[in-house]
Amino acid sequence: MPKIMYIVSSVKLHTINVSNGLTVMEGAVQNDIPGIDADCGGSMACATCHVYVKEEWFNKLQKKEDGEEDMIDMAYQPNKLSRLSCQLTVSDELEGLTVKIPEKQA
Ligand code: FES
Repeated sequence: MPKIMYIVSSVKLHTINVSNGLTVMEGAVQNDIPGIDADCGGSMACATCHVYVKEEWFNKLQKKEDGEEDMIDMAYQPNKLSRLSCQLTVSDELEGLTVKIPEKQA
């Protein structure tokens, strides 16, 4: 079960074991990580699961599907490392993935 690191408010690091097949968003919600509200339940319609991916991980992730970029534009302070955590499916390859939750969301 891969470990996913969630950084909240730039200081608090939560290390969570997330089952393969779940999304990074689901790992956060199931473990009460603050700042991932996931209002739409993962259907890419809310951007409340927005995270910044640690730079060294960004190019290792699944590519964005159509529509993710548009939804990221509606997120709070998106940048080049932004992803929707509901679109990131956990697998062994993501062991150690680190994502930061935007401060205003947390
Ligand atoms: S949970 Fe709504 S866009 Fe990810």
